[in-house]
Amino acid sequence: MTFLTQLEDVSLQQQGTAPSFALSQRGRSGFELLGSVQKFSSGTLRPLAEESFVATPEGKALSADHASAAPVRSERERIAAAKALCASDNVFRLERFIQRYVAEQNFNHGIPAIEERRAEFRAYEAAMERGLLGTLDIDVDVVVPSYYDRIEWHLEPGGWDGYDLYGALFAFGVGPYVFSHGGYAAVAVGDDIAQQRLNTIRQFPKNEYARIYEPGCGGVSTLKAVHTVFPDAALHGSDLSPLLLRNGQKMASRFGFSVHLRLADSATDTREADESFDGVITYALHHELPPKANRALFREMYRIMKPGADIVISDPPPFRAVPLFHAVILDWDTEHREEPFFTTALHDSLDEMLREAGFDAVESYAIGHGQYPWITRARKPLKLAEAA
Ligand SMILES: C[S@@+](CC[C@H](N)C(=O)[O-])C[C@H]1O[C@@H](n2cnc3c(N)ncnc32)[C@H](O)[C@@H]1O
Repeated sequence: MTFLTQLEDVSLQQQGTAPSFALSQRGRSGFELLGSVQKFSSGTLRPLAEESFVATPEGKALSADHASAAPVRSERERIAAAKALCASDNVFRLERFIQRYVAEQNFNHGIPAIEERRAEFRAYEAAMERGLLGTLDIDVDVVVPSYYDRIEWHLEPGGWDGYDLYGALFAFGVGPYVFSHGGYAAVAVGDDIAQQRLNTIRQFPKNEYARIYEPGCGGVSTLKAVHTVFPDAALHGSDLSPLLLRNGQKMASRFGFSVHLRLADSATDTREADESFDGVITYALHHELPPKANRALFREMYRIMKPGADIVISDPPPFRAVPLFHAVILDWDTEHREEPFFTTALHDSLDEMLREAGFDAVESYAIGHGQYPWITRARKPLKLAEAA
């Protein structure tokens, strides 16, 4: 489900895109507290910890080596040394404690808060099943890769499909009250992820696209942004989570646009025809895949893209693109926010993977502060006859 950030906006209720009932006062205030604490941690404590880090002779030397064109230490060595130095600073430790605390409390507090309104949310979701637009193809046997199933991503109990009301939890709790402040993972404090998605979609180089595909589309928050920028494009996506796909179709229908969604491993077989898409968008996907799966996914995207089609990617910035202290912050998610491939992905290069898969015009750059969103984009070459 998409993250609504303005629940108080009555026009959303009139459109039927927000519920007319509210969380209990206790449920709401608990979420508000988590949002405020996270904002204080990333907006106030983190800059203090960074100041202390770069003020030490070792932090200064490591940061200079990291920024150098010919560093003495490897990227892994620099980050390991910087991590050890940060861990000796109590402000850094408090800031990280708060990040972990909020990430856990989003569920420890959030699930009971949603449970208080279970009957209302179930009825709200059931009402959304009427008049669905687009298609949903999930009654198929898909081999779920072993790396996907055993992870409680972002500390979500049971993983993406672990709780039937995760859609409501994110759309009406964590999204508007906690994530809307930014200041978690790669999202800088004060940044709005909904706006970042729109800015990312605007990186498509052409003015029109007939068919756009999103692998790992989840609850279609990004396809919703695609629809805003390219209202005439047909939108297709796949994911391994039946719950997210179901919620995605319901939410898209409520917002009045069609999506065509399939349960599929986007890395191995999207079940889409060769050369059938003009554009591919990926958002917050590659850091959740092991390197082999990323390489396979780019080969699969290449297969389904028409010659001349564009791919636009938003994923956290590689370590090489950010200051060393920031690299330590990003690296922390791997061990502490159940993101097993975060570190590997940020050492890697999506640019190289795209070239290996056959893409050209590969480029990567930041469009926001803190180097996020970090965009990588490329094009499938035209066939020789078409290029001539
Ligand atoms: C962080 S979420 C991002 C969702 C969506 N792209 C968005 O912008 O909201 C990552 C998504 O990738 C999906 N995913 C991970 N590995 C996948 C795979 N091999 N095939 C399809 N989907 C996958 C997850 O189920 C999850 O929905």
